[in-house]
Amino acid sequence: MTEVAGRMRDMSRHFWIGTGWKMNKTVAEARAYISELVRILPPMCRDLSVFIIPPFTALEAARAQLGAECPVLLGAQNMHWEEEGAFTGEISARMLKEFGVDLVELGHSERRATFGETDETVNLKVKTVLRHGMKPLVCVGDTMPEYRAGASVETVLRQVKMAFSGLDSGQLANCMVAYEPVWAIGEGGIPATPEHVAGVHAAVRRVLAERADAFVPILYGGSVNPQNAGELSREPEVDGLFVGRSAWSAQGLADIVRLLIEAKFS
Ligand code: PGA
Repeated sequence: MTEVAGRMRDMSRHFWIGTGWKMNKTVAEARAYISELVRILPPMCRDLSVFIIPPFTALEAARAQLGAECPVLLGAQNMHWEEEGAFTGEISARMLKEFGVDLVELGHSERRATFGETDETVNLKVKTVLRHGMKPLVCVGDTMPEYRAGASVETVLRQVKMAFSGLDSGQLANCMVAYEPVWAIGEGGIPATPEHVAGVHAAVRRVLAERADAFVPILYGGSVNPQNAGELSREPEVDGLFVGRSAWSAQGLADIVRLLIEAKFS
């Protein structure tokens, strides 16, 4: 086995599970969530990486509450691509670094649909996140009309190619992708089947493999819940799960972590 193949095999055993809180939880609520999580999280298998993505206002408290020893990674929900300046209402990479942020979620469909996020701005942000030594978690996804037209794969591949445009192999090695079909997210969302997810993930993986020998984790998100988490995680193309509502309580996240440990490693 070549060195690269060996590394890829090691990395491919790694499974991600995380939650984005969206515009939920005050500082007090974030503290309560994390203190409960730290208490009830099952002893983790070394192949599982857990992350939480609170709103900006709770990052400092979240970092303090997690403490230096807790293996849960901390993410932010967005970031501006410029270093600093006249960008009222925006948050820079240095501001996030100050709170020990490990990863930055970019291009969530709610930001694309409601706040004008584009493939171009996602690409600028990816580069800035990497320059500051954090990991970009790039969300991509097809709308219901695109899905119905059989255009899921090409839509997602375009978003992936645009998000990672201009990156070299070493930079790609620090990136992550979350496939989140717009039709699967939130109230009324229909969770994608493992077969559909596998097809899209495989196509993304092929495109990324042309660009880099590094392994780029591809997570699935969209109405993940305790009923479907085990089955989705057993799909070999799925490297992790990105959960909204079902993990907005510490118990909800801990339950899914426990399920994954059973599904993947027992
Ligand atoms: P959901 O959200 O799990 O509540 O559908 C997923 C997401 O938006 O990342």
